[in-house]
Amino acid sequence: MLRYSTAGESHGPCLVATIDGFPYGTPVSLDHVNAELARRQGGYGRGARMMMEKDEAVALSGVRHGHALGSPIALQIMNRVHNAEDLHPITRPRPGHADLAGAMKFGTSDVRDISERSSARETAARVAAGALAASFLRLFDIDVFGFVLEIGGIESRPSADEVRRVRDSSDLYGLDPQIDGRWKEAVDGAKAAGDTLGGVFEVRVSGAPPGLGSHAGWEEKLDGALARALMSVQTVKAVEVGAGFGAARLRGSEMHDEIAKGPDGRLVRTRNNAGGIEGGMTNGQPVVCRAACKPISTLRKSLGTVDLESGEAAAAAYERSDVCVVPAASVIGEAVVAFEIARAFLDKFGGDSYEETGRRHESYRKGLERFPP
Ligand SMILES: Cc1cc2nc3c(=O)[nH]c(=O)nc-3n(C[C@H](O)[C@H](O)[C@H](O)COP(=O)(O)O)c2cc1C
Repeated sequence: MLRYSTAGESHGPCLVATIDGFPYGTPVSLDHVNAELARRQGGYGRGARMMMEKDEAVALSGVRHGHALGSPIALQIMNRVHNAEDLHPITRPRPGHADLAGAMKFGTSDVRDISERSSARETAARVAAGALAASFLRLFDIDVFGFVLEIGGIESRPSADEVRRVRDSSDLYGLDPQIDGRWKEAVDGAKAAGDTLGGVFEVRVSGAPPGLGSHAGWEEKLDGALARALMSVQTVKAVEVGAGFGAARLRGSEMHDEIAKGPDGRLVRTRNNAGGIEGGMTNGQPVVCRAACKPISTLRKSLGTVDLESGEAAAAAYERSDVCVVPAASVIGEAVVAFEIARAFLDKFGGDSYEETGRRHESYRKGLERFPP
């Protein structure tokens, strides 16, 4: 089974992602990993910390001569600033952060012991693992693509053409160049007011074969796995697949994607309200998920809290902070979705070696050409 875990704190020496389950012989290059790490650090609205870090992943294990050994791959990303031992305690928990809940859970008044790990610095390791998964999927013509849909309540109209070029030339990772200026104004306005902004991002997966995930057990359902992965990203508060919450307002006749026979005899769908997943399995259509990010909670104009040392009312702690992290969150969303799709892909096709996985995938693909049987 493909799986990963992360280790490391925000101001510790480094972050580590340990990835287990890539078949022997899988080509491994860190080029895409490092490009995605750079994208995670970018996006209009990030704070000064991002300027200090320059993330780069190094493979400590599991890779030799540019291919996976079938053993755990450990990726390390150094923290340029690693002064966790010297940092003063934080005793004024920030509403909206893990600070107070963590302090109560562990019985401490120094919430830095919690925020060092709960902070989104950890997502650098998740992006590294997910980018490796995305590179693996590309070997099988599966593409995972995340972009920003909405910031501060201002919705975009995503372009349908040249999406990668459009997104990569947008400072906010959107697909609507007309809206970038308005988004920047909104971010600047929030910054000037000492406030923060949230938004929505979308992740699309194209080229995934039908049958990834399973209807048979609740824990194998792909929509469940995607929702969990996306919801676990710091600041994500809601996840949709396909029509999502909008489905609740449609009639059945408007919602479901009718099945028809295409000109070449293959089965086609009239639309994609299902977001590419039916019964917990991919159905051959693009997988489409969206996530809503709350405005981040460290405000320059601090919210009210209680100092855990003095017991007195106080202003919540403030350290250099971002204003809008939705562009960065879209990179993290893309990474976690890529990982779940790669996991489902390897659950289905298995194989000890890349060559064996490829043979099994090819045989399934050929079988589908003769479908319906
Ligand atoms: C890329 C990224 C960067 C973030 N940067 C900050 C930040 O600078 N300040 C902050 O208060 N929250 C930031 N957050 C959000 C917090 O990490 C998050 O709200 C907090 O850990 C509580 O988790 P929850 O929002 O999932 O409940 C960031 C989130 C992401 C995804």
